[in-house]
Amino acid sequence: MRKKIIAGNWKMNKTPEEAQKLVEELKALVNTDKVDVVFCPPFVCLPGVIEAVKGTHIAVGAQNIHFEESGAYTGEVSAEMLKNLGVKYVILGHSERREYFHETDEIVNKKVLKALEHDLIPIICVGESLKQREQGITIDLVRLQTKIALKDVPADKAKELVIAYEPIWAIGTGKTATAEQAEEVCKAIREVVAEIYDQTVADAIRIQYGGSVNAGNAKELFEMPNIDGGLVGGASLKIDFSKIVNYND
Ligand code: 13P
Repeated sequence: MRKKIIAGNWKMNKTPEEAQKLVEELKALVNTDKVDVVFCPPFVCLPGVIEAVKGTHIAVGAQNIHFEESGAYTGEVSAEMLKNLGVKYVILGHSERREYFHETDEIVNKKVLKALEHDLIPIICVGESLKQREQGITIDLVRLQTKIALKDVPADKAKELVIAYEPIWAIGTGKTATAEQAEEVCKAIREVVAEIYDQTVADAIRIQYGGSVNAGNAKELFEMPNIDGGLVGGASLKIDFSKIVNYND
């Protein structure tokens, strides 16, 4: 039985001071071991958030890394730095990074390999645009994104990581994919994982849905057989996040 994982992607929101306040408000409400809960604040908030969740079940994730080990990459942050800080997860290949920062599938793959080298758990984002959905290529595209992201990732590492299916048209739009649409793609992702590795890896890997998840739709989405939780944007910045985490209560 896969444990659900519900992560909040704060994106470029909250100062360290505001982050502190949000964590103080949320932490007692989301401190559960029934699901894995992850806060992914901006880099500058990570030290404070890591400190604030000490002694709880809440884990902390970053939103990006560079794929090189270290060196002359002004403005970048390495996997080793984050690991040293106490970060556990890292979101990789988010559609906003693909779109605004030109991250290709090959770059995402390099980041996945670097994260794993430093024992960070990647949350790999895949998903189609509205145009691609209308063209009928959603499954082909997501299969390709998954295959390239997982290139050279050994089976024992693949088992541990997380894939987030985030249809771009559902991100920040209030237009959630239906539970059936999300399930169809998450199932296809699990099938491609089984093709790359085997059924054991496919059964172990966790696949989230992301895109306008809120307190009202979380339960229906998370109850689908191939959806193992959510990657939540806007609603993770509010007290509502606790209702998403406790969707089953
Ligand atoms: P929203 O929940 O705001 O649609 O964002 C989803 C997302 O991009 C999470 O990574």
